[in-house]
Formats: sequence, C-alpha cells, structure tokens
Amino acid sequence: MILGMTTNNARFDGKVALVTGGASGMGLATARRFLDEGAQVVIAGRSEERLREAAEALDAGDRVLTVSTDVTKSADLERLAAAARSHFGHLDVVFANAGAATFKHVEEFTEADYDHVMNANLKGVYFTVQRLLPLLREGGSIVINASWTQYRGFGGGSVYAATKAAVASLTRSLAADLADRGIRVNAVSPGYIATDMFHAAVTSPEEIEAVRARVPLRRIGTSEDVATVVAFLASADAGYVNGVDLLVDGGLANTIVL
Ligand SMILES: NC(=O)c1ccc[n+]([C@@H]2O[C@H](COP(=O)([O-])OP(=O)(O)OC[C@H]3O[C@@H](n4cnc5c(N)ncnc54)[C@H](OP(=O)(O)O)[C@@H]3O)[C@@H](O)[C@H]2O)c1
Repeated sequence: MILGMTTNNARFDGKVALVTGGASGMGLATARRFLDEGAQVVIAGRSEERLREAAEALDAGDRVLTVSTDVTKSADLERLAAAARSHFGHLDVVFANAGAATFKHVEEFTEADYDHVMNANLKGVYFTVQRLLPLLREGGSIVINASWTQYRGFGGGSVYAATKAAVASLTRSLAADLADRGIRVNAVSPGYIATDMFHAAVTSPEEIEAVRARVPLRRIGTSEDVATVVAFLASADAGYVNGVDLLVDGGLANTIVL
C-alpha cells in the first residue's frame, strides 16, 4: 500500500444502500459497486423482468432485494420503503437515480411528454427521498442523479434539462433540511454515458462519433465512471462534502475543444 492511501474495498460493510433505476445503466453499475464494497442493496425499477435479470447478474443472493416500483407513484414508494424496512431494517444510502428522457423540439413537445419527464425526474426524486427518509440512519447519505445538461442550453432537451437543474437545486435545499440529522445530500451530473437512455437518443455511428468529439477526454463515459463517483459521495471518504453537484462528464460542460 502506498503511504497515505487507503484501500476502498470495504467502505460499505454493514451498510444498506437503495438504488432507484437500479436494474440498468448507472443504477445497476452503482448497485454492483456498493455490493463489491460490502453493502446490502435494494434495487427498484418498474420492470419486474429487468429487476430479476439484474439480480441474477449481480449474483449476490439475499444481499440484494428487488422491489418493483414506479417512483412517480407515492403508493409504490410506500411499498418500497416497507419492503426495505422489513428486509434490512434501515438504510444508510439512497441513490435517487431513476429518470426519464424525451427529446423533442419545443414545438413538438406535448403536455403528456412534459408530465412524463417532470414526474419521473423531479416529483419522483423528491418523493423517493421523502418516503425513504424515515429509514435513513443518522450520518446517512443521499445522492441524486442530475445531468450536465443543467449547465447548457440543450436544444431538444429543454424540459429534461430543466428537471436536472431542479434536482440540483433540491440537492442544496435538502442538504439544509437534513443537516440536523447528519445526512449529507449531493448530486452527480454525468455527461454522455453509454446506457440504454443514451443509445435511445443517439442512434447512428455518425451521431455517436459527433458526440464523442465534443468531449475533451475523447470518449463516451461508462456507467462505471459514474458509479465510482457515486460510491465516493455516498462514503465516509466524502464525509465533509455536502450540497454539491459533481460533474462526471470528461470536461464536456466546462470546456470548449478547439
Ligand atoms: N446516459 C446519459 O448520458 C445520462 C447523462 C446524464 C444523466 N443521466 C441520468 O442518469 C439516470 C440513469 O439513466 P441511465 O443513463 O443509466 O439510463 P437507463 O439505463 O435507461 O436507466 C434509467 C432507469 O430508470 C428507471 N426508471 C425510469 N422511469 C422510472 C420510474 N417512473 N420509476 C422507477 N424507475 C424508473 C428505468 O427502469 P424501468 O424502465 O424498469 O422503470 C431504468 O432502470 C437518469 O436519471 C438519467 O436522466 C443519464
């Protein structure tokens, strides 16, 4: 071991972490990371089939609990909280990661599109946190998945980007609300990350290449790039980090590449 460095593989020993949208993409990679570092994990999402497949892939037996949950429905969130409580008793970490994207020009965007994106990305995050709060132990940690798009005008993604600006704001206010319980609240803002959501929006090889060229580090991010940062924010290593939004975007939002 290099002097001054610590090994990180047991940061979540004895802890319980809950991940919404945990059956795919960044949620699944983060659930795996928590498990690898010793946690027990609850993963929530709407599709029971995808949850079952994810649990099989995680291959951690009864250290993983799956609960089918639509985060836009309070009754589902109540069931999620009850299931987590009866299975593990409490939570130490919540990663409010579930989200939805509909990319359309303002002239095409319908009221139904608006409700879909707003409900998943803002209402869903807010009530996920609120309904799980009674289970969170003192000193616990909440991480919210925002997005680099909150920092830029994003043609075709106006409502999506607005929801992500909103959850970055929530992060700061919730950190203040929960200060007396010693619960830290932070956000992560991924750049372009190769997940189902990304590939649904960026389809052709030419589009993928154009997107890659915008990133100073010249690569599309992976779910693991984000999982490692979420694990850091959720861990005691970030014990004095509170109310921040941390970009994990290869320099995309803050840099112009000439
Ligand atoms: N990929 C990117 O480039 C990128 C960049 C910045 C931020 N993000 C954000 O990262 C987060 C994760 O997305 P991802 O990229 O990893 O894509 P993903 O694999 O499509 O993950 C989205 C997850 O959210 C779940 N979900 C959607 N609506 C839900 C609802 N109403 N209730 C419960 N679960 C719901 C989905 O599961 P079910 O469909 O089974 O419910 C899915 O597991 C999202 O908040 C997204 O906005 C993505």
